[in-house]
Amino acid sequence: MTDPGQPGSAGRPGGEVSRPVTEPSSAPADHRYDVVVVGGGVIGLACAWDLAGRGMTVAVVDPEPGRGASWAAAGMLAPVSEVHHGEEPLLALALASARRWPAFAAELEAAVGRSIGYRTTGTLVVAADDGDRAWARELFEFQRDLGLGVQWLTGRRARQLEPAVAPGVRAGIWAPGDHQVDNRLLVGALLDAATAAGAVVHRARAEALECSAGVVSGIGLAGGTTLLAGAVVLAAGTWSAQLAGLPAGVVPAVRPVKGQILRLLPCDRAPTLTRTVRGIVRGASVYVVPREDRTVVVGATMEERGFDTAVTAGAVYELLRDAHRVVPGITEMTLGEASAGLRPGSPDNAPIVGRAAGEGVEGLVVATGHYRQGILLAPLTSAAVGAIVSGQEPPDELAPFGPGRFASVSGRAGA
Ligand code: FAD
Ligand code: GLY
Repeated sequence: MTDPGQPGSAGRPGGEVSRPVTEPSSAPADHRYDVVVVGGGVIGLACAWDLAGRGMTVAVVDPEPGRGASWAAAGMLAPVSEVHHGEEPLLALALASARRWPAFAAELEAAVGRSIGYRTTGTLVVAADDGDRAWARELFEFQRDLGLGVQWLTGRRARQLEPAVAPGVRAGIWAPGDHQVDNRLLVGALLDAATAAGAVVHRARAEALECSAGVVSGIGLAGGTTLLAGAVVLAAGTWSAQLAGLPAGVVPAVRPVKGQILRLLPCDRAPTLTRTVRGIVRGASVYVVPREDRTVVVGATMEERGFDTAVTAGAVYELLRDAHRVVPGITEMTLGEASAGLRPGSPDNAPIVGRAAGEGVEGLVVATGHYRQGILLAPLTSAAVGAIVSGQEPPDELAPFGPGRFASVSGRAGA
């Protein structure tokens, strides 16, 4: 808690925090906003764009906006091919967000006047050998029973659909509703759109949540500045648990899940791929995502290694080996980048979005834990956060994913 009367507290002239955040206000006075968004990844930026569009004064705090997991990602919008047993509520959420993508992409492209590489060319899942065919068949039956609009393909039919696929593949699943966006173009566009809508970006690290009389009053930055606000959105991805000033029961239960990923550059001998190909190779999964500019993204590892982001030779080898097994021509391409990002994982692999559960932090909204699907879930998450901060109800699909479900396990999970 901040002592009233100290810099950045509610007692400071101009530092009122009791003004309803639903009330649109004029341009911000120095360091005073309706809402401060901590974290400028895809989630924080989409929230800031939505909130600014509602007429609120908004600040985004991030030393490197758009350079976290959102930069590393592959950009697949894949509720169908990423479905897992026991995660049906998450599937409903992912499908609901996928339905918002066409309008979200169109609105964002119109706002910035350029493409974000949103492609609706579908996804082909292929099985490398007979054992993988059995895995694929089980996945297909699960998807089909959920009514997900998938089609079973022979290996030959899969190759007809995508001739760059290896001759030996045993079978395929065609998921026409799984799309993709260029996540790097996306975060750049969100940054510009949010700024054009009035959001102010502070390139600094948020150190601490500040509260007064049980209500959030702002965010203290590294260097000592305080941004005053009546609402704070905690959207710092896997670092969300590190913000000081969060009561123990409010600390989001997020942890980093490392993903190593490659970017291959086009050349004359590069294969022509028109859609995302996901491979099941000896039971492991690999994806090959072709961009409009003929760059190809190959990913990704799933590793529990804390905040380590080292790129390892073994991961590069295994990703290329498995990707080559399903799309042989990719090894002709130039290796442009090998990088690693940290997915914000949660205990049940689902996001944590809603009013903070716990005493003393009224006005704090949490939007983190998006794990493997933060790009996909950005439209629905930002609409929900915009509604909550405006005092409205968020979309129903988010009801199972509030912060309260982990109240008993919350701790400094990501520290
Ligand atoms: P981030 O993008 O990590 O952003 C968090 C931001 O918070 C960062 O910019 C960071 O600088 C900032 N920050 C941290 N601490 C502070 C602080 N104290 N103060 C201020 N700012 C702070 N999802 C999909 O939907 N489709 C995919 O195909 C896909 N592929 C992926 C592939 C890989 C290899 C990885 C790693 C992830 C992938 N994901 C994918 C998951 C997706 O990238 C994440 O779920 C999503 O990016 C999370 O967004 P975020 O904004 O919460 O976090
Ligand atoms: N959703 C793809 C990944 O997380 O690697």
